[in-house]
Amino acid sequence: MGGIGMSGIAYMYLSMGHPVQGSDIKKNKVLGQLAEMGAKVFIGHDASHVSGADIVVYSSSIAPDHPERVAAQKAGVLLLHRAEALALLCKDKFTIAVAGTHGKTTTTALIGMILKDAKRDPSIVVGGMVSFFSGNACFGEGKEMVIEADESDSSFLKFSPDIEVITNIEEEHMDHFSDVEAVEKAFEAFVKRMGRKGFLVGCAEDERAAKLVAKNSKRASGYGFKKNGDGLYAQNITECPGGRRGVEFEVWKGDTCLGVVRLKIMGSHNVLNSLAALTVGLRLGVDFPTAAAALERYEGAARRFDVKYEDEDFWVVDDYAHHPTEIRKTLAAAKALKRNRIVAVFQPHRYSRTQRFLNDFATSFFDVDKFIVTDIYGAGEKVVEGLSAHQITDLARQYGHKDAVFIERSHLTDVLSKEIKKGDLVMLLGAGDVCEVSDELSHYLKNQRTVSAKSDLSNPFRHFKGKVLIHEPLAKHTTLKVGGPVDFWIEPQDKEELGEALRICRASAIPVQILGLGSNVLAPDEGIEGAVIHLGSPYFREVSEREGKIIARGGVPNSVFIPFAVERGYGGCEFLLGVPGSIGGSVVMNAGSHGASVDEFLESVLFMDMNGVTRTIQKKDIQFHYRSSDLKHGFVIEAQFAFPKKPIGETQAKLNEYREYRQKTQDLFHPSAGCMFKNPKDAGCSSGKFIDDAGLKGKRVGNAQISEKHGNFIINLGGATAQDILSLMEMARTEVKRQFGVELESEVKILRGVAACPR
Ligand code: EPU
Repeated sequence: MGGIGMSGIAYMYLSMGHPVQGSDIKKNKVLGQLAEMGAKVFIGHDASHVSGADIVVYSSSIAPDHPERVAAQKAGVLLLHRAEALALLCKDKFTIAVAGTHGKTTTTALIGMILKDAKRDPSIVVGGMVSFFSGNACFGEGKEMVIEADESDSSFLKFSPDIEVITNIEEEHMDHFSDVEAVEKAFEAFVKRMGRKGFLVGCAEDERAAKLVAKNSKRASGYGFKKNGDGLYAQNITECPGGRRGVEFEVWKGDTCLGVVRLKIMGSHNVLNSLAALTVGLRLGVDFPTAAAALERYEGAARRFDVKYEDEDFWVVDDYAHHPTEIRKTLAAAKALKRNRIVAVFQPHRYSRTQRFLNDFATSFFDVDKFIVTDIYGAGEKVVEGLSAHQITDLARQYGHKDAVFIERSHLTDVLSKEIKKGDLVMLLGAGDVCEVSDELSHYLKNQRTVSAKSDLSNPFRHFKGKVLIHEPLAKHTTLKVGGPVDFWIEPQDKEELGEALRICRASAIPVQILGLGSNVLAPDEGIEGAVIHLGSPYFREVSEREGKIIARGGVPNSVFIPFAVERGYGGCEFLLGVPGSIGGSVVMNAGSHGASVDEFLESVLFMDMNGVTRTIQKKDIQFHYRSSDLKHGFVIEAQFAFPKKPIGETQAKLNEYREYRQKTQDLFHPSAGCMFKNPKDAGCSSGKFIDDAGLKGKRVGNAQISEKHGNFIINLGGATAQDILSLMEMARTEVKRQFGVELESEVKILRGVAACPR
């Protein structure tokens, strides 16, 4: 049940309220998530695992003599192949099935994203982990169901879709098909599976897919790079515009340009995938701007040009490409990034495929500066005598590649960490476990940054035990995902090191600012001179209970604090659910929601001022106001709270109510900083309502937008700048003042490029 296909189906059945149980040979993250949702998970296989089931679902890799399959058969239980189970889920839905040799996952996810943004609440089942819905499946109440249909074992013939998308048809899965004609025939049969009202969307750039479109011309549409009938086509394609990751293109239909799309994903193959998704979206009545905006937000799926590490010196990218065509397309996209060197590591996947494409693999890497091949990943296949991955590098060298080498899988991380140079783009390609190398290498590079920052003699924080990073982008640390680099990013190990950091800043005249979880701040695009101190080390994330009080250090996230208090029987802290920050920030800002705020429950604070002097301050000595306090210029090291004891059930019910309210009224989907403005005093209504009444919802500047859901939220649609956000804030201020005479005051802290020096 832990595989990419089966887990999606398990997720869907669980979401529909059915009890689900399943087994796998080893534990993984997905199984943990399913267990959290209520699935019963068994590690190892046994006939007893199927007892009590009404339906037993198996994947293609489960042989007919598998003990659980045999037991289900004996018990006369309904036994379904994975695709049949998925087909059952599609039964009463309007099904959009995406098939093709390459690009299925991306295209499925893109269609899902368009329908989601068009508020159609679709169900989606993909063959990869997609960040925008945090998984490989998404359950919706809407009538549309978007699925990835797998041709590898002809199981796609189990579906009867209403719309089919065919991205391309190539020679692949030769363990199942005798030749490419057999693959083509299977796709023909797939098209026949559509009902009379069905509609085919096929890639006009792919000869075989185009043939199917031509054959079904009355109910089909092609898409590509050239004008063809009334199909969509892309023009003026720019790869990596301005050196940024992504691709930009115009979308045309006949003689009309519908608009420009700026993707965050790379390569001309993704231009085609987007055109397929747009064709489906427009056909289903979604307007072009909504569909295009959805495409622009798409960040990619795990293992599809998945950037695992990125700084000014190195990039590490993991990609699933395991077929020569995919490899060539991925490398062409990588080239557009114009890094000094491309180092490509290829792990051939399956003996059968390696044997078949030996020559193609050897010639697919001419664009890379260093070509490393590692051992073949068998994926359960029998070893082919006489076949070895060395043959690929031997052939590549024979064909003229200047730097093609074989490195054993177990040595890869070690060798790479020694061989890579500044300016390198390291690409890890393959469907096997080579992705682990990308994680290991990224981890190594992250550590190296701290190590190299600390070995720099000019770095005044080089003796620190905690994290010290140089030129750290603040966009990584703000919930709005905006902000340029800071000279020094410092996470002191404990309060003594925090005092030391402040002493160094004073002595070396380094300006310093404080950043909590970055949820209530806007950081400047040009970055910040000096140091930013963040209480992120384990010491500052401790929370404990002592004599009926909850004591939390300043860096404890509210999301950790709340369950800690609730599980111990305390109530009253539920209001913090609406505040996605840390305890330190919440105390200083006197955070609140639903009519409650921090000052009601706080007892005392251990506070360190910018001189490094620590003292305990009782609540009565702190001036609290609406969303502010006089606890300025310093750090909350620790805060003590007194919450009343309440039945857990009651507190949890309130948490659920608040959670639902937030989900209903706020945009929790896009990056934001929460409410941008304080609610004006005695104005009789909230800032959100004023902005709403001023008609500003949905207004856009660059890639920032005033949320359509809540007027007091500004959301980052992807790639927004601080300037975009400031312009929208100004627009809201001016309009609300003009129309209602009300002054809006910023709730978010706007960080300055040059901070004040501690004195
Ligand atoms: N409203 C509209 N249109 C809008 C937004 C709101 O008509 O676009 C109406 C609502 O229907 C409601 C009223 O305005 O009648 C107040 O809105 P809401 O309940 O959403 O509360 P809010 O005052 O806008 C506060 C906090 C939020 C917190 C919520 C939930 C402030 C500035 N904001 O929002 O906190 O999550 O209550 O209780 O106090 C934050 O501070 O970052 C934050 C998100």
